[in-house]
Amino acid sequence: MAEEPPKPQRSDEEVKTAVANGETIESVEEMSPGYLESLKRLMLVQADTELMSVLCYQPVANTAPTLDTRISASAIVQDEAGHANIMYRLLEDLGEDKHELVYEREPHEYKNMHFFDYRLHNWAELAVANALFDRAGAVQLGDISEHCSYGPWRRALKKVDVEERFHQRHGDVWMKRLANGNEKTKQMLQDAVDRMWPHGVEWFGPENRQSTHVQDIIDFGLRSMTNDEMRYEWYDQVIPKLEDLGLEVDAHADEDERGGWYIGYDPDWDEVIQRFKNRGPHIEEYVEILRSGQNGFAAKATA
Ligand SMILES: [Fe+2]
Ligand SMILES: [Fe+2]
Repeated sequence: MAEEPPKPQRSDEEVKTAVANGETIESVEEMSPGYLESLKRLMLVQADTELMSVLCYQPVANTAPTLDTRISASAIVQDEAGHANIMYRLLEDLGEDKHELVYEREPHEYKNMHFFDYRLHNWAELAVANALFDRAGAVQLGDISEHCSYGPWRRALKKVDVEERFHQRHGDVWMKRLANGNEKTKQMLQDAVDRMWPHGVEWFGPENRQSTHVQDIIDFGLRSMTNDEMRYEWYDQVIPKLEDLGLEVDAHADEDERGGWYIGYDPDWDEVIQRFKNRGPHIEEYVEILRSGQNGFAAKATA
């Protein structure tokens, strides 16, 4: 007879008090139903984001301009596959079935970051993805690897965090090369930034006031930063870099209490939420590739 999956044994209030007192949660029995649900939701977003980034990055990684760079880009894709594997493995400890999560869901059931429902068109876009999105991921994962109350996830992210820093550096190096190349490479880079910038802003989810889950995430000690705090941290890291390279984004530094960077427009969060729900144009294709195990995807990279 199959073993019964472990069940949470505490109330939400008990867990919130325990983590506020510095307790690390190590097993499902030490959780409450609400804690388990919030944890699973966050972990699945990360797992699916890592997985779909493999499908999104791989075709363009294969078009790297030199052999050395192709090796680095392939290593990044391998790392992302490894990160996905770590996350689905951790989800098994929470009662989920890894095979079912990876292969047996419908396309709309994957919870990855919205941009990975799209396709990269060229090498400049991979550089920008590494510099903007891997950095956005690192802001989130860095917070979790330092502060998360769920011990197994916090510890697993130490390795992931180091690798994400390598991905960002790869993006930074290539953005610099393209910016300092010629007019054509600089324009390619600016076009890539124009296309991908809004997706970076949206990466962290709706503003705090429109997010129903943020307070629980903080109260359960799963993260220390709100959506807005992470977004500001990302602005402060990326906007000066883009400006140094002579790239344009609609943003400005402000002399307010925070003393940081802001963008010059208000995203329409209702539209963003709806678009996330509707999914992007390539998610069905990516799920099909996953299920069939085909690897001839590179030929379609610029289609
Ligand atoms: Fe990753
Ligand atoms: Fe990465």
